[in-house]
Amino acid sequence: MDVFDPRVFARGIPHDALRRLRDADPVSWQDEHEVGSWPAGPGFHAVTRYDDVRRVLRTPQDFSSWLGATQIRDPDPADLPFIRRMILNMDPPEQLRLRRLVTPAFTRRRLERFAGTVRDRARTLLEAVRGRPFDLAREVTDDLPLQNLADLLGVPPADRGLLLEWTNRVIGYQDPEHAVPVHDAGGRPVNPRSPAQLADMFGYARELTTRKRVEPADDVWTALVHAEVDGERLSPTELEMFFFLLVVAGNDTVRSALPGGVLLLAEHPDADRRVRADPRLLPSAIEEMLRLHPPVLTFRRTATRDVDLAGTRIARGDKVVVYHVSANVDERHFADPFTFDPAREPNDHLAFGQGPHLCLGATFARMQMLAFFAELLALPPVALHGTPRRLTSNFINGLTSLPLTWAR
Ligand code: HEM
Repeated sequence: MDVFDPRVFARGIPHDALRRLRDADPVSWQDEHEVGSWPAGPGFHAVTRYDDVRRVLRTPQDFSSWLGATQIRDPDPADLPFIRRMILNMDPPEQLRLRRLVTPAFTRRRLERFAGTVRDRARTLLEAVRGRPFDLAREVTDDLPLQNLADLLGVPPADRGLLLEWTNRVIGYQDPEHAVPVHDAGGRPVNPRSPAQLADMFGYARELTTRKRVEPADDVWTALVHAEVDGERLSPTELEMFFFLLVVAGNDTVRSALPGGVLLLAEHPDADRRVRADPRLLPSAIEEMLRLHPPVLTFRRTATRDVDLAGTRIARGDKVVVYHVSANVDERHFADPFTFDPAREPNDHLAFGQGPHLCLGATFARMQMLAFFAELLALPPVALHGTPRRLTSNFINGLTSLPLTWAR
């Protein structure tokens, strides 16, 4: 039951294997075998039940984001100090200090200001494909989150291609279609997250910071550049690392959530009809989409001490990987977990994580989903018109192609 290999996820979520792991081996050992030109790794514990995933995420003193950072593949030891400067890869109390500084930039009022633009954009993109078969991912949802993120950051629209290139370099590197392969002098693949591969992006972040100091605007980057809490400010390096994180975290996640939700509606026409008949169900339908199609499949932690989890002994220094995609359909926590119930209540899914690192962009992500689906549901229903193509990744639940046609 290999739930490590990124190619497994390209064929579809391995729900059968995950269910068997939840039942028989909820903290299972996974071999990190060689994949393509990537060398083998030391292996990890895969955590698949809801309660255990929650515990790992809420106990940073036992399961650290800092020790080995948060990606399944071990970073190059030389890059570790650099990666640890990102809030995502810190533990409290350092993480909380940064969190206090950046959180006020994401006020609901500021985010809501973008809602009208997001809706207009969604409408325009959908109008352009009306009345003909189309590829939702390629023609509509690949670009929408990128435009919205550029707005949020106050990046000129013309520069959003750069944001896409950086995202693809970091996230898509396991996928043959999205990868921008980078090799060292010996021909070995190089982790595209290493600082040397991202020099252009950091240069851009510095320029943006200078611009927002001179020409402040009502965007998140201006707010971050000027953020001050109890006399503390973000250092130039902290700003650069946060730019890096926002570019990556704010793009591919929503780019996965939108087609993921549409595919669910196309596969569940009854649910689609219920939401159309009662649009007040849209917010809870969106939570249900996030539960059944969590844009982030997994996150990694490292044990700080010997610890017992669901009867399995985890040794200090072991890699522990939580499976949001499994926790969200754990039959111990959700009744009829594979039923798409647009009115499900409560729906405490883990798509945005849990504990100190709970997603900082959740409000912005939900707002984009609400705007997009409000526009989509004003149009006739859609139906699958070919085979969807999935991203080769054990991290992002990506749909790179979603061929659809209008049902009427
Ligand atoms: C549906 C879309 C999204 C999903 C499913 C998602 C999911 C997540 C998850 C699971 C985490 C926790 C990581 C961990 O436990 O280590 C996280 C953290 C984070 N997310 Fe999101 N995210 C989404 C959209 C966004 C957007 C749009 C932004 C920014 C504009 C964003 C910014 C962040 C940041 C900054 C963190 C790090 C917080 C910290 O380390 O304290 N996310 N996200």
